Amino acid sequence: PLTAGTNGQGHLEIGGCDVVELVRQWGSPLYILDETTLRTACRHYREGLRQDYPGDAQVIYATKAWCCLGVLAVVVSEGLGLDVVSGGELTTAMRLGVAPELVYFHGNNKSPAELALALDYGCRVVVDNWYELQTLVPLAQAANCTAKIMLRFTPGIECHTHEYIRTGHLDSKFGFDPQQLAAVFTWLRERPQLECIGLHAHIGSQIFALEPHRDLTEVLVETYAQGLQAGLPLREVNVGGGLGIRYTEADQPPAIRDWVRVVSQGLTHHCQQRGLPLPKLICEPGRSLVGAACVTAYTMGGRKEIPGGRTYISVDGGMSDNPRPITYQAQYQAVVANRVAAPLAETVTVAGKHCESGDILLKDIALPVTQPGDILVVLATGAYNYSMASNYNRIPRPAAILVQGGAASLIIKRETWEDLLRQDCLPERLMAP
Ligand code: LLP
Repeated sequence: PLTAGTNGQGHLEIGGCDVVELVRQWGSPLYILDETTLRTACRHYREGLRQDYPGDAQVIYATKAWCCLGVLAVVVSEGLGLDVVSGGELTTAMRLGVAPELVYFHGNNKSPAELALALDYGCRVVVDNWYELQTLVPLAQAANCTAKIMLRFTPGIECHTHEYIRTGHLDSKFGFDPQQLAAVFTWLRERPQLECIGLHAHIGSQIFALEPHRDLTEVLVETYAQGLQAGLPLREVNVGGGLGIRYTEADQPPAIRDWVRVVSQGLTHHCQQRGLPLPKLICEPGRSLVGAACVTAYTMGGRKEIPGGRTYISVDGGMSDNPRPITYQAQYQAVVANRVAAPLAETVTVAGKHCESGDILLKDIALPVTQPGDILVVLATGAYNYSMASNYNRIPRPAAILVQGGAASLIIKRETWEDLLRQDCLPERLMAP
C-alpha cells in the first residue's frame, strides 16, 4: 500500500521523494512516513463504518503505536479520535487541541495525577479496575465534575498471536474480570460522580483471523445488555484494535474493510437479536493505521563472512530504533534503496550496531550484492518502532520525516549526544577537582 516506486536513477521513491536523497539530507537511520498511506488507512476505517454500521461510530487511533504531534495531527485531520495510555500521550493530544470527547484514556495503573489531568481536560477515562474506580470518585468530587467513564473487561477470547501481545484471555492484567462486573454495575448506580457511558474490550494485536472479533461483539453485547438492565446509561461499545498487517510475504491479513464489516455486522446483529438500541461503535486500531505507512532507512556498514556460514552486514541502527525483532522475533522485509532493480544475489543477515548478539534486524534475507554506504530500507516500521525506541548504548533516537507529493517535512528531530547528556546530573562531590 506504500506510495512507492522507482525513479529514473533506479532509486526507491516514497511519497514522491528519492530515499537516497532523503538520507543524504536528513541522515540515517531515518524513519520515513508516507502521509498518503496513513490517510488512506484512516479513510478505509471511516468509510467502512459509514457503509457497514447503521449507528454512530468513531475510529480512535491507538497512539501507543506511534505518538508524536505530526502523526496525531494527520490522523486527527482525518476525523479520528485518540486512545492514550499515559500522561505523556494525553499531553501530546492536549497540545494539539484535540476535542476532549474524542480522547479516551486507557491503562491499568493510571496515577492519581494522570487521572486528575484527564478529568481536568474532560476526556473519557477507560477504567481498568476497582482501585481506579475508587480513586476517581474523590477526584471527580474535588474537580466538581462528573467523570465520563467506560469499563474495560477481559472478554475471555483466545487468539493466536504472540504471548506478549495477547490481552483478551481471562488471565490478563487488563480490565475487570467478567465475574466482577455485576458488582461494579451495582456500585456505580450509587456513584453520581461517575457516569458510565460504555464498555471496552480488546483481544490482542497483530491478529489475522476475523472470528475472534466476531465472537468479541457477541460478548460485548451480552455485557452491554446486562449493564443496561442494571440501569447504567451505556451508549458506547469499544471493540478495541488488533488487526494485523503484512510484514512479510507469508502474512495474509484481512483488509481493513473486511475487519470493519465483521465488527459492524456482529454488533448490529447481536443488538437486534436482543432488541437493544445500537450503541456508538468505537474501534481503536494502531498498527493497521500507521504500520505499513513507514519505512526505516539505514546506511549499510561492514560485512562479516563466516567461512561455510552466514554473512552478516551491519547497519547504523538496530534494536534501539526497532526493538520488535529482539522482543517478539518479529520478521521484516527490506530493499536496497539505491539498487531497487538489481537482482537478488545473496542471502545475508542484517545486524544492528548494538552490543548484543540478539541485535539482528533481518535474518537470512535475499539482497542484491551491496557495498558499504548503500541504503537499506526496512519496510512496515510505522507501528511500535519509534514508540518503543530506546537509547540503549547511548545511541540517539533517529529523526522522522513525513513525505507527500515529493516534499518532506521533519516531524521528529534527530537526538544528539548532547541531548542524551542533558538529563544527566553529576553530584558535586564526584566532579573532578
Ligand atoms: N487498544 C488497546 C486497549 C490496546 O492495548 C492496543 C494495543 C490497541 C488498541 C491497538 O492495537 P493494534 O491495532 O495496534 O494491534 N508492542 C507490540 C504491540 C502491543 C500492543 C498493545 N496494545 C508490538 O510491537 O507488536
